[in-house]
Amino acid sequence: MISSSQIKIKIEKLAIGGAGIARHDGLVIFVPQAAPEDELLVELTTKKKNFAEARIVEILKPGPARRNPPCRYAHECGGCNWQHLTEEEQRRQKELLVLETIKKFNPNLNFEYLPLQQSPRVLRYRNRIQPKFKDGKFGFFARNSHEIVEIDDCLITEEALTNKFPEVKAWAEAKKSKDLQRLEMYISDTEEVRYGLITDEDDGIGFSQVNRFQNEDLLKTALDWAGEDIYSQVFDLYAGSGNFTFPLAQKYKTASSITAVELNPKLVERGRAQSKDKRLHYFLSDVESYMKRASISKQDLVVLDPPRAGASEYIMRALAASQPKKIIYISCHPVSLARDLKWFFEYAEKMGRKYHLAKVQAFEMFPQTDHVETIAELRVD
Ligand SMILES: C[S@@+](CC[C@H](N)C(=O)[O-])C[C@H]1O[C@@H](n2cnc3c(N)ncnc32)[C@H](O)[C@@H]1O
Repeated sequence: MISSSQIKIKIEKLAIGGAGIARHDGLVIFVPQAAPEDELLVELTTKKKNFAEARIVEILKPGPARRNPPCRYAHECGGCNWQHLTEEEQRRQKELLVLETIKKFNPNLNFEYLPLQQSPRVLRYRNRIQPKFKDGKFGFFARNSHEIVEIDDCLITEEALTNKFPEVKAWAEAKKSKDLQRLEMYISDTEEVRYGLITDEDDGIGFSQVNRFQNEDLLKTALDWAGEDIYSQVFDLYAGSGNFTFPLAQKYKTASSITAVELNPKLVERGRAQSKDKRLHYFLSDVESYMKRASISKQDLVVLDPPRAGASEYIMRALAASQPKKIIYISCHPVSLARDLKWFFEYAEKMGRKYHLAKVQAFEMFPQTDHVETIAELRVD
């Protein structure tokens, strides 16, 4: 029986954040766990002036791309939100979302949009995870909840890590703590499995690319697009422990300096420990503060790979003002990328600087989730 708060809808497409979108009586409705063309009976969970959120009560007719998730925990685990979509559809949606988002913020920008680069692995690709432990339960938080879904495998995680689940669970159990334990497990550079606790004082190993198989393609593309060895200086902003810095230093042999800027002291320490090239300078700094004293010139290359929040208006303006020859922007959130591009091009135009968004490509870095990586090349015309 249909209750008064339940409505029938058909999903048009998917949105940033991963939910399906439908329209009903002038209201845009976001439905988590929906698939394109699903016909659904839903119940509104939130209603605002222009939009609502709803949960699926019943799938009346599944869309053509809906499938049974490969992971048996997918219905409750908060880790993956697109397991119910075929990989082809996940890729199609990501390609569309990146393009639509850039166009929405920058309707007048023309650029070459390359087909999404597929991940070599769609399962067993993660080399760093943060499981939880409490009251004898080892697993991940359930969707929108702090309840732990107990698991004994995670299909998107490399087996070297999942094989250690019993050991890590026993390790956490032995602490005999009543509190929630936030754990971190990862495969080190030397292929060892490491694990430990994340606490208020210690936030773990810090950032690392979680899909090393696809990271290789991303690196190759970034270096390809950066082009020939013609730059005076090379800057790697938001450098982490040097994922891009070291390959850049290797490729750009005639550049007088390679500068990495990173806020996390642990990552800077790891980067500095690896750096033998005298041209390499690793700065422990917030990028915005760094830009206030940076001396980027017209002959330089800038690579930036900010976190999900993106860079800032200040940083994008400072970049446009310093006019590097080329900018390679690597992004893990299409909205912040699109917004940063808008700031950059608006300011560049105001200053009479001719930049061109040459190429954009989406990268399948996080299969089974709505997250997508994007790379963009900006260059002087
Ligand atoms: C997406 S990660 C990229 C790291 C690196 N490029 C890589 O591929 O491994 C973003 C990095 O920016 C750092 N970060 C975040 N906010 C920052 C800021 N305001 N200034 C400098 N670095 C920042 C993070 O610690 C993280 O290492």
